[in-house]
Amino acid sequence: MMKVVLVGCGAMSKQWLDAARQIDGLAIVGLVDLDAERAKARALEYNLTDAVVGTSLDAVLDQTRPDMVFDVVVPAARREVALSAFAHNCHLLTEKPLADSPENARAIVEAARSAGRLHAVVQNRRYVANVRRIRRFLDSGAIGRATSIHADFFVAPHFGGFREEMAHVLLLDMAIHTFDAARYMADGEPAGVFCQEWEPAGSWYRQGSSASAVFDLGGGKVFTYAGSWCADGFRTSWEGSWRIVAERGSLLWDGHDALKAEVVVPGRDGIFDKTQPIEVPPLDPTDRIGGHLGIIRDLIHAIDTGTEPETRGADNIKSLAMVFGAIESAETGRRVAIAREEP
Ligand SMILES: NC(=O)c1ccc[n+]([C@@H]2O[C@H](COP(=O)([O-])OP(=O)(O)OC[C@H]3O[C@@H](n4cnc5c(N)ncnc54)[C@H](O)[C@@H]3O)[C@@H](O)[C@H]2O)c1
Repeated sequence: MMKVVLVGCGAMSKQWLDAARQIDGLAIVGLVDLDAERAKARALEYNLTDAVVGTSLDAVLDQTRPDMVFDVVVPAARREVALSAFAHNCHLLTEKPLADSPENARAIVEAARSAGRLHAVVQNRRYVANVRRIRRFLDSGAIGRATSIHADFFVAPHFGGFREEMAHVLLLDMAIHTFDAARYMADGEPAGVFCQEWEPAGSWYRQGSSASAVFDLGGGKVFTYAGSWCADGFRTSWEGSWRIVAERGSLLWDGHDALKAEVVVPGRDGIFDKTQPIEVPPLDPTDRIGGHLGIIRDLIHAIDTGTEPETRGADNIKSLAMVFGAIESAETGRRVAIAREEP
């Protein structure tokens, strides 16, 4: 039986607990939140009558001695939670983002390495069927190598709460999903970024609700991102809307079910090379999907088999570096080089 303590019993913890109860051999043995009432409420709601409930992670870990910690706290508390988990010899699965600063991200990844524990991030928008299909299709070479990756993200939610007050809200709280998907689908190694942020008239955020960034993804690949969290009308999917241009064709994905591609064929129509539709093959049975549940299952599999999970911190830190590079570029008005994070 894999014993788990979950820390951070706010809004997202429901998704984690819903996933956890679908996994045989996993027991939630503790629930922690600074707000004791929240933790108690979750214990009641999920019928976790035997779980230890508390406000101090260290104390609950001492008492329950689990194998793993589920970290669903706010990013500012992530480093403290991670260090506590590793000090108690636990594996750690963390909500995105991995950390709230580059320094904290490196400290967490290093602490996992020194403790010899597995550490993974819930970068759940990579565990989406069409993201997997696109990566496989591009890898097949059917339209040549990807050269230009374009994503639009236009959603206008009224969350209330911390997001409306925080700095760099779009880049720091949401863009990591899109950046990670771009890096994954195009198999890129981020090398540099130029970014501008702005606050449109009519925005209900304090700072950074709109941003436009151009990334160098290495190997001649460029990724452009255009996003806003206060663009009413013609809402895109949460996954964003994509156009990927390759050497011999292009692919379009609306972020929902519409995924199509065209490939260049012999002959010309006037000044244009002829193109025709080409099928993007269906999901392969080995492709990993399933959002939070898929990621939790993967981490357990990695623990059981002594392997590394796909969204391990040491790899996910590269997507986070895209976020911090974009923020630095927006603040300084200059292109920022993204240092290669050693695995
Ligand atoms: N993967 C996704 O799709 C997705 C979606 C939304 C939010 N998130 C992420 O989930 C995380 C949590 O977001 P949320 O919306 O649940 O926030 P929330 O504010 O609703 O909940 C966070 C909880 O953590 C508790 N907390 C904070 N510091 C703590 C500490 N040191 N010890 C114990 N408890 C502590 C708070 O009291 C609160 O109950 C964030 O990192 C957010 O970015 C991910």
